[in-house]
Amino acid sequence: MVELAPSILSCNFANLEEDIRQTQGTDLKMLHVDVMDGIFVPNISFGFKVIGDLRKITDYYFDTHLMIEEPIRYIKDFKKSGVDRLTVHYEACKNLDETINEVKANGMEVGLTFKPATDMKLMLPYLDKIDLLLVMSVEPGFGGQSFMKDSLDKIRFFRKYIDDNNLDVKIQVDGGIKTTNVDKVIDAGCDIIVAGSDVFASDIREKINKYYQIFKEKSL
Ligand code: DX5
Ligand code: ZN
Repeated sequence: MVELAPSILSCNFANLEEDIRQTQGTDLKMLHVDVMDGIFVPNISFGFKVIGDLRKITDYYFDTHLMIEEPIRYIKDFKKSGVDRLTVHYEACKNLDETINEVKANGMEVGLTFKPATDMKLMLPYLDKIDLLLVMSVEPGFGGQSFMKDSLDKIRFFRKYIDDNNLDVKIQVDGGIKTTNVDKVIDAGCDIIVAGSDVFASDIREKINKYYQIFKEKSL
């Protein structure tokens, strides 16, 4: 079944623990953790200290999206802070093969993503080396932007390629997702849905339950 990965970027950072507590008692299994360095993207979010402190208060799988230059420099620090999966940007890595291998060698799952303007076909040589392919449906950097409709074709393209080649890679989508458009990305073939502002700017528990209700209806 499809899974939800709420992006904590849209939480109240003065009260992260309470926002995460509000997600409990649902079918949720993971949180999406957006790390930004102010260089790869024009915004700065948070780093290892915050992730490590969150690790102490929750068992959720930490699906971590690194919007930072040369993430290879920090793989061990992310591992120590309790991350389960590291997703890196194609554009941010000088040696992508080495970066992917280093994430795996440190006992984490590895994801690959790319900015909307990057040619998606450049990801193909890496698909048999990764656990997750993330299709960005907004320009990375900020929550609350509008969904880019051409990402539906990208999801369809990777769904077909992954199925045709019998690859074990999940497809994730990130940016501009709401309960009102999530059916489109599911129909296109997405496995994991990131949603930030739509989850945390409302009744958090109710909204997560609504997503899972849609996922269940879709899987019937
Ligand atoms: C954007 C981040 C997203 C963001 C999504 O760079 O990668 O994860 O939090 O936020 P919404 O769901 O509000 O578009
Ligand atoms: Zn993200």
